[in-house]
Amino acid sequence: MIEFGGRVAVVTGAGGGLGRSYALELARRGARVVVNDLGGGVDGSGASTKSADLVVDEITSAGGEAVASYDSVAETSGGEAIVGRALDSYGQIDIVVNNAGILRDRSFSNMSREELEGVLATHLFGGFNVSQPAFKAMKDANYGRFVFTSSNAGIFGNFGQTNYGAAKAGLVGLSNVIAIEGAKYGIQSNVIAPAARTRMTEDLLGPMADLLDPEQVMPMVVYLCAEENPYTHEIFTAGGGRYGRIFIGTNEGWFAGRNVVPTVEEIADRIEEIRDISAYEVPLSSSEEIMIIGRALGGS
Ligand code: NAI
Repeated sequence: MIEFGGRVAVVTGAGGGLGRSYALELARRGARVVVNDLGGGVDGSGASTKSADLVVDEITSAGGEAVASYDSVAETSGGEAIVGRALDSYGQIDIVVNNAGILRDRSFSNMSREELEGVLATHLFGGFNVSQPAFKAMKDANYGRFVFTSSNAGIFGNFGQTNYGAAKAGLVGLSNVIAIEGAKYGIQSNVIAPAARTRMTEDLLGPMADLLDPEQVMPMVVYLCAEENPYTHEIFTAGGGRYGRIFIGTNEGWFAGRNVVPTVEEIADRIEEIRDISAYEVPLSSSEEIMIIGRALGGS
């Protein structure tokens, strides 16, 4: 049995959709949970205490422990207040699920700076704002689990989502570095790329929507939050009952030779070898990629 007794979790954007199901399950398994939600619309406009309160009520009426937080992850002070809510209420913070998010889709030519900034502020800066104060507390306790919410739209790309895609890809970088810096303190960080029917996606999923229950994403995320999870620095995908791993790898490539500057024509001649991904590795830091270069140099 995977239990969270004695653990304290913050789930951002937990007033509905995916975040709600994570918060409910973490609480059901014994975690004390900070249910954070600004309570605005899908585009981030407005605010309300209602959605976070409802989830806290659901948790407490089922015998669990939770408190609400209505702060915005998009503000530095909001991130501090959300983590402060965990520390003031429960004296510790063990788990952060960075899940809050908004959409402001527009094709690249028409995207405004406000649309870019609003989406970066919520997802990317939001992940930073909440995780930095949490990381400091976790370091002192020598334990922590982060989950960052990315998206296939950021990792693979999607029409009309340059702002969202940039933010979601940025979160992969944020999580990777936190995983490296946190390792010696028992802090792990992973990424989830979910696919689920929520208010954010109900108009986008088409006929598959009925088969993409947010509850199906929940077990993967809750596992990543568990002490039993030994993995860090990874990206997982979950949707419609399929669970998998997404990874960023590099291939064998083509080695031109030590101190050799190939011509542009040689690159053209070798481009398929340079692109070939039939053999690849998944480096877990920039130095691991440099080692691959070093190996090629050593072998010349
Ligand atoms: P949702 O709209 O139901 O949930 C997002 C929640 O975040 C909302 O309750 C919203 O009020 C809250 N929120 C927004 N801005 C906030 C802020 N500044 N501070 C605090 N809370 C804020 O949508 P869903 O689908 O549950 O999304 C959860 C996460 O999963 C998001 O990060 C989303 O981008 C991501 N995602 C969802 C996918 C899906 O298929 N549903 C696909 C890929 C990623």
